[in-house]
Amino acid sequence: MHYKDELAEVLARETGMEKNIFSDLLEIPPQADMGDLALPCFRLAKELKKAPNQIAVELKGKIAGKLTWLRRAEVVGGYLNIYVEPAQYAETILQKSFAQGATPGFGTEGLEKTVLVEYSSPNIAKPFHVGHAFSTLVGEAIANLYEYRGYCVKRLNHLGDYGTQFGKLIAAWRHWGSEEALADDPITELNRVYVKFYRELEDKPELEDEGRLYFKRLEEKAPEEYELWKLFRDLSLKAFDKIYNRLNIKFDSMLGESFYSDKIPAVVDRLREKGLLVESEGAQVVNLDDYGLNPCLILKSDGATIYASRDIAAVYYRDETWDFYRNIYVVGAPQKNHFQQVFAVLKEADFPKADQCIHVAFGTVRFADGIFSTRQGNVILLNDLLAESVAKTKAIIQNNNPEMPEAEVEKIAESVGVGAVRYTFLRNGRERDIVFSWDDMLDFEGDSAPYLQYTYARCSSIMRLAAANGVWPLDPTKINHEHLAGEEEQSIIKLMDAFEDSVLEALDTHEPSIMLRNISQLARAFNRFYNSRSILHAEDKEVMKARLILTESTRTYLKAGLKIAGIDALERM
Ligand code: ARG
Repeated sequence: MHYKDELAEVLARETGMEKNIFSDLLEIPPQADMGDLALPCFRLAKELKKAPNQIAVELKGKIAGKLTWLRRAEVVGGYLNIYVEPAQYAETILQKSFAQGATPGFGTEGLEKTVLVEYSSPNIAKPFHVGHAFSTLVGEAIANLYEYRGYCVKRLNHLGDYGTQFGKLIAAWRHWGSEEALADDPITELNRVYVKFYRELEDKPELEDEGRLYFKRLEEKAPEEYELWKLFRDLSLKAFDKIYNRLNIKFDSMLGESFYSDKIPAVVDRLREKGLLVESEGAQVVNLDDYGLNPCLILKSDGATIYASRDIAAVYYRDETWDFYRNIYVVGAPQKNHFQQVFAVLKEADFPKADQCIHVAFGTVRFADGIFSTRQGNVILLNDLLAESVAKTKAIIQNNNPEMPEAEVEKIAESVGVGAVRYTFLRNGRERDIVFSWDDMLDFEGDSAPYLQYTYARCSSIMRLAAANGVWPLDPTKINHEHLAGEEEQSIIKLMDAFEDSVLEALDTHEPSIMLRNISQLARAFNRFYNSRSILHAEDKEVMKARLILTESTRTYLKAGLKIAGIDALERM
């Protein structure tokens, strides 16, 4: 709330108390009729040795005449409720937002700070499933949030391109692989032989040794195994690139686990020097009893490196390369323990930024029975999900606009279909599991991307008409803000005012949903306004102008919020 700081300041000055006390106490009431700001005085009672109600009355007296924007203050029980001057409020918020152009609520506290956001990180030769989609979409939104506040963001994709499973994959490929199928659809073919490997293993345990041998040869960079692995990697990357292009996501680094393989000895030396490595059943581990964690395995008994060691090596490499302020991992909740171990080992090794490494976890994705047919066992592929969403959207759009040209339908369906999937992954707290429902995702009236996109297109269409009528553009400073003092208008203004805080809170908690809730409420508030007021046919020209300014500003906020979420804002729909 724009005036909160000033109010806390005045309260502090008038009482001689700390400003922080008031900043912490001041809250936004759940209902507009309870004020625009409220100060609960209960927690002050003890210190001031007075009843909360009496404190509220006294404070009301102290601020009287001290705030230009104050319409009235009211004492209700132990609360001091503050009502702002609505026209002045509208003017302040709109001026501020117009001054910030296309990025209302942006900030610069991140300048000079580099934040690494690691996300997506699929495994090569394996399907890009909805779990990776979760990481990809939440990660991109988090990266965008940091950028919005001025941070220098590096988008990292820690490809799963290494480990003993690649020895198994090579064995499987040599037994059962088809060149033709590989050329046709590499990931499906590689996944097929890999799955077959495990099925055959029951009768042919010798396959295990074969896999181990090939992985050893891969670690030694033996030409045949290395070339095969590289081929699998290149083909997988090509397939992943198609997905990233479709989602308009670009990584600054695609260094996978394999990159860190030759950096493990240095990590082992470091840990040994610190006296942290102990032997356990032939393997080298770091004890983490003090953290209430199981020992972290660093080197296996056969000397092979593992997932955690590669992650530890990656942290050192990242810091040397980017000197990070934060190093964020957007990875599913099942890997919580893994990251706790990695960060704890770093701490034990006196790495000074261990606490700047953050695991941002997310839940699982579920589909109601029969809602989705899968091609690959019960793994749901992001590609299939997008395709189905776009197809369903297309049908809806065709149905709503029978005469829209095919090419336009296709374009809109792609943006809305993909946006609907994105929004579904982003709209709730990320650690909550998602249950997919096409009806909810594609509900143009619900809490969905299409609803937001539709509202944005509605605002755009109003502004196009205004321009065609010659009443737009107009100077935002030359309107009469008294026309924006009504309840409908004020609820829009309040949400615009709250947008910046929602961005900050979303960033602090790595919860893009918090920002999305703000623009989703803004869209609702705008539609209520739209349904109860005439904009272009307003009763007089001054009223129309004020409403146009409000519409244009709403449009800007919606676009900014959608952009952070990675969702296209369409001018027409
Ligand atoms: N490739 C892993 C998986 O699919 C995720 C990698 C997570 N990132 C990391 N630095 N360990 O499960």
